[in-house]
Amino acid sequence: MSKKIIYECIDAGSDYCPCYLAETNDCITCSHLQGMEFCDCNWRGVCILTEYTWNGKKAKLPRKNFEARILDKKIIGDNLIIFKLITTKTFARYLKQPGSYVFIRDPHKPEYFDTPMSIMYANDRSGQIDIAVQIIGTKTKTLLETNEKLIVRGPYWNGILGLKELKTFKDSNALIIARGVALAPSVNILNYLIRNNNRITLIMDKGKFEDLFITDYIDENRILTIETNILEEKGKLLIQELIRNNSYDLCFSGGSDIQHKEIKGFLNELSPDTNFVVTNNKEICCGEGICGACCIKIGDEILKACKSQIDTAWIFREGEK
Ligand code: FES
Repeated sequence: MSKKIIYECIDAGSDYCPCYLAETNDCITCSHLQGMEFCDCNWRGVCILTEYTWNGKKAKLPRKNFEARILDKKIIGDNLIIFKLITTKTFARYLKQPGSYVFIRDPHKPEYFDTPMSIMYANDRSGQIDIAVQIIGTKTKTLLETNEKLIVRGPYWNGILGLKELKTFKDSNALIIARGVALAPSVNILNYLIRNNNRITLIMDKGKFEDLFITDYIDENRILTIETNILEEKGKLLIQELIRNNSYDLCFSGGSDIQHKEIKGFLNELSPDTNFVVTNNKEICCGEGICGACCIKIGDEILKACKSQIDTAWIFREGEK
């Protein structure tokens, strides 16, 4: 019997695999490229060791920085910017995948100002990508003054956990719950679910923002939308009622880890078979599995959360140590 896959490298089989981790025997997937003598991987795509050998035992070319023109910039209240950027059609196509994100920074600032931002919307016919930035610290404050161009690096894809369940989800019922800046990746998820003919209920909580900034991005003919404060008792009861009275096959939680845990608790009690998909909230610094800023311990495994697509059932069963 094959062992259950509890985590996989998000980049395995992509244009960026094998990466630098293969050069240091730290590959997330390939046991040979972890320094072992035998093959013990569950990867079903092109053999990573073979790719590495064909590539002269070197990592493939990494993602590059490039300048993207700011088509539009809207400041909402005192803590939110919506950027519309022009990139290439190919780049935008890569970012239509749910959970996509890029690093952005002011072109006049050094690389350590790079900050990861979820893709809210990507149009592969025009190359436009839209990003919502919550102004919260030094890196994001510098973006208030940036009006012409941004440095962009990507594409990255591990912004949500439970991607496999989401990508295979078709003709079914989904409950999407998102609060604050996590409304942004929800738009990309909603568009993906609509393309796959799913019926969607969306609970939106504006969190610390003045307004619900995603309303222009939502097709209310295709989605049942509800606005509420999910931190209040009324909001929590509403979520429980919806889960109790509808058979949702998938539930997405966009927000804090505390929010994820609370919603997982409701699901365990009222609908234990519902697939659970969540935003990946770990501190992402390099996004390449190099710096270790995103490391988490689950069970006996120490994982790099920027690269590892982790089974959410396992995370909530084992808990983070
Ligand atoms: S963010 Fe650097 S290793 Fe994950």
